[in-house]
Amino acid sequence: MIHKTVGFKQITVKKNAVKNMKYYSVLLFFCLLLIQSGIKAQENQKLIVKANQVKGAVQSTMWGVFFEDINLGADGGIYAELIKNRSFEFFRPMMGWRVLGKPATEGDFLVINRKETNSGNPRFLRVTLRNNEKGSVGLNNEGFRSMGIKKDLRYDFSVMYRHQGSPVKLHLELINGKNEIIGSNIVTLPATNGEEWKTQASGFTATATEPKASFNIWMEGDGILDMDMISLFPTDTWKNRPGGMRADMIQLLADMKPGFIRFPGGCIVEGFDLSQRYQWKKTIGPVDERPLIINRWNFEFAHRPTPDYFQTFGLGFFEYFQLAEDIGAEPLPILNAGMACQFNSAEVVPLEQIGPYVQDALDLIEFANGDVSTTWGKKRAEMGHPAPFNLKMMGVGNENWGPQYIERLKIFTQAIKAKYPGFRIVNSSGTDPSGDRYDYLNKELRDMNADIIDEHYYRRPEWFLQNANRYDSFPRNASKIFGGEYAAQSDKTVSVNNKNNWQTAIAEAAFMTGLERNADVVVMASYAPLFAHVDGWQWTPDLIWVDNLNAYGTPNYYVQKLFSLNKGTDIVPILADGKSLAGADSLYASAVLDKKTNEVVIKLVNVSVKSMTREINIEGVKKLDTKASLTVLHSDDINEVNSIEAPKAVSPADQSIPLKGKKINVSLEPYSFTVIRVRAL
Ligand code: AHR
Repeated sequence: MIHKTVGFKQITVKKNAVKNMKYYSVLLFFCLLLIQSGIKAQENQKLIVKANQVKGAVQSTMWGVFFEDINLGADGGIYAELIKNRSFEFFRPMMGWRVLGKPATEGDFLVINRKETNSGNPRFLRVTLRNNEKGSVGLNNEGFRSMGIKKDLRYDFSVMYRHQGSPVKLHLELINGKNEIIGSNIVTLPATNGEEWKTQASGFTATATEPKASFNIWMEGDGILDMDMISLFPTDTWKNRPGGMRADMIQLLADMKPGFIRFPGGCIVEGFDLSQRYQWKKTIGPVDERPLIINRWNFEFAHRPTPDYFQTFGLGFFEYFQLAEDIGAEPLPILNAGMACQFNSAEVVPLEQIGPYVQDALDLIEFANGDVSTTWGKKRAEMGHPAPFNLKMMGVGNENWGPQYIERLKIFTQAIKAKYPGFRIVNSSGTDPSGDRYDYLNKELRDMNADIIDEHYYRRPEWFLQNANRYDSFPRNASKIFGGEYAAQSDKTVSVNNKNNWQTAIAEAAFMTGLERNADVVVMASYAPLFAHVDGWQWTPDLIWVDNLNAYGTPNYYVQKLFSLNKGTDIVPILADGKSLAGADSLYASAVLDKKTNEVVIKLVNVSVKSMTREINIEGVKKLDTKASLTVLHSDDINEVNSIEAPKAVSPADQSIPLKGKKINVSLEPYSFTVIRVRAL
């Protein structure tokens, strides 16, 4: 039996009804809308915006993004490296690699572990060549679900190697799905002294576009050749940085103008056990010295196993800070609180041994902000960023709960506040927005006068509609709220059937008007998870989906983007019959001023099956412009989704409407999210 929350009741459906889930969920969504709209939508209702009654400021951080290395988010995702398992450190050292040709003798391809001399990157590949000609032995790398290759784009190849005797030649070939060469090069590796590692690099241009490419390296020469860090990057990376990030994916983030970026997780911060927790110090410095760990999402779901999912940390904390700076977002790193994932091993570090964990937090602040004369500030400068990153906040713990969390959190808080009094700490309220775990933590955190409480909600669309007024009654001058992870689930949490359809997106839009109306309490919010690879995901729904050549935003992405681009600076009331609009008559609304542009910005979400007209009166302004701009996100079909083939099926459309006086007459389409901007003169 499966328990399913519908409206305000809990009903039980038989297992064999699951196949009809989609039908039921659509039907129930409609029922809820009808109940909420009082069956018949009220026409021409007057709305009043009180533009001179500022209720509080909208923080610049209000709408942000949450990046976690899940669904091939980092390796195989924003980190543009095309070679999978480039340093042979996966549990199975040859995973992703295939030996080509016929080595003469057993052991001619040998993985060697030099842990004693290089603990960060212990393994390398030793190939014994026996006067080999081109085409006799080599390696093929399959990439992350293949490689996406673009015609006329240059690719940077590099390899760490050592080899004595005469030079060895590497014949490089990009291969399409039909085994045809679509780019090639010959790289000569001059002899070394056999001890020291050298790096050889060379670029070449692809002759065709191919979504399912792979990469061959044929070896020509004689003697022992040691190889490590075999790498292939496209050159069209974000900001054209060598060894950088996938520009199309980052551009989608930059387009949102996010107020913050929370990273690197999520559950990966906690790890299955403490040995597999995320440790930021191991992710900085030379890339070939950053030790790899298994990604927790590799084995988390038996129904979505991803045995080739590891974290190489080519993308580490320096790169995350740099990304935040690039896209104008405040960095929000999350650190391990001395606790492994409580859904997994639930290991905790003894309180008397928590020192190194707390020191990591203090050192991170120094790494981000410290003068170049400090230990960690110097490391930042050595990596190319002498100026501080201006870190103002960090999270201690992800979804941790129970007294064991509070005990550890108090130690972190005391140490951080003692050294950096103005620094703000984001605190976990557990896994859910209600229940015993939440109630316990909410009380404890408020007793501690916590700066910011992180709430997570993965719930059905109905929950989002019903909770648009969640924060109306929260204390105003106490701990602030961060909606750190949320997404409406069209089926249920961790179901593989969840879709990023318009039903989920419009429910989130309705809920977000409630966050915006309460922006004096809710200071940050972010959808989760952010990215998913169509051939490598573990968790759905996700904000942005990609394959190896394309990236597209879901309807949920456009909701987030519209809120972020229209966040304004100050909250003002928008009322009907003296009340906020939080679902009565199927309408949700919020309004802000944008003092930078002198505009009134209104958001209206019509979740009913009917179009509705509204007269909006703007009070408290002398005069309005003679026109208003409207941006409408809408679909007649609540099941509609975007896809690689139709990336903008649900996407915003702009229009302009004439105004007379201080009234805006607006027609709201069924299932629509409308943003109105009008200039006050
Ligand atoms: O967003 C996916 C996961 O959901 C996050 O890692 C975790 O914090 C939450 O349970």
